[in-house]
Amino acid sequence: MPFKPRVFSGMQPTGNLHLGNYLGALQRWVEMQNTHECIYCIVDMHAITVWQNPAELRQAIRDVAAAYIAAGLDTKKSIIFNQSQVPVHAELGWIFSCVARLGWLDRMTQFKEKAGKDKERASVGLYAYPALMAADILAYQATHVPVGEDQKQHLELTRDIAQKFNNDYADGIRAAGIADGLFFPMPEPVIQGPATRVMSLRDGSKKMSKSDASDNSRINMIDDADTIGKKIQKAKTDPEPLPSEEAGLDPRPEADNLVGIYAAMADTTKADVLAQFGGGQFSTFKKALAELAVAKISPITSEMRRLTADPAEIDRILADGSRRAAAISQPIMDQVKDIVGFIRS
Ligand code: TRP
Repeated sequence: MPFKPRVFSGMQPTGNLHLGNYLGALQRWVEMQNTHECIYCIVDMHAITVWQNPAELRQAIRDVAAAYIAAGLDTKKSIIFNQSQVPVHAELGWIFSCVARLGWLDRMTQFKEKAGKDKERASVGLYAYPALMAADILAYQATHVPVGEDQKQHLELTRDIAQKFNNDYADGIRAAGIADGLFFPMPEPVIQGPATRVMSLRDGSKKMSKSDASDNSRINMIDDADTIGKKIQKAKTDPEPLPSEEAGLDPRPEADNLVGIYAAMADTTKADVLAQFGGGQFSTFKKALAELAVAKISPITSEMRRLTADPAEIDRILADGSRRAAAISQPIMDQVKDIVGFIRS
């Protein structure tokens, strides 16, 4: 079966979204709408692999939906929905838990990081997380998955699951009339763009993260202009002026990060930014960066506020997206059930 290009990606509804989520993911998702059929999910089932307060979770799902739309995801072009509203994810996730091997999951570095020292107390769901992620993607036979570097290993596992399913059930797949035996595609990660990795403003070697104890380490999408300006002003730098060439950023993670953020927001390259600011002091550059950040983020923030003021409207959008998502994934799931040997009516 030749697979038509289809994009799937998702984000967890946990905590406030920050500039790293926007530049590393959302901005790219928005662009892909113009070239691809896109499906964007709020992965609430992944969120509960660690404890979530129910009221906060509900709020976070709506907040992320609002952020998606405020950032430019368009329900006329793309499907936007929350994972738990489409039962196929759970169903296919279970089947993939039976396809994936313990040895494969044992290698997942994200589990090791998230489970920490006491892995006996981590949830079974946290361990099985990548099988559910594979189900998210393959339930739509998606071919392209825009993600950060940290998700590359999960994408490899997704391909391993797709391949093992195609092999294990080869006879049933051919019996279903799929002559080339490829029921699931081998989805590729899409990792590109100048600010794929936005780092902490306090430490250029750490990713910008919602779980960092210091709020000054990140720019939240709900920060006001004043806060954004102050955080950029306080951002860690070094005593040297900015280099004129990109190579000069190499041993300077903080400078590299700020230049990368500027480039991503201005939709240009680091080389271009350095052509403009190279040789100058950080104070001048930071002023320009703060202005650009405010110009970019403020309209998104006010749109997010407008949307979250009407939760019923957000719920309606998610219900509609979920129906459209199910219209694609349910027929695929029906075929999976037949191939696996289940009975359905
Ligand atoms: N694991 C991803 C993350 O933490 C979120 C995710 C879940 C996802 N399912 C997905 C991303 C499917 C892309 C495709 O960022």
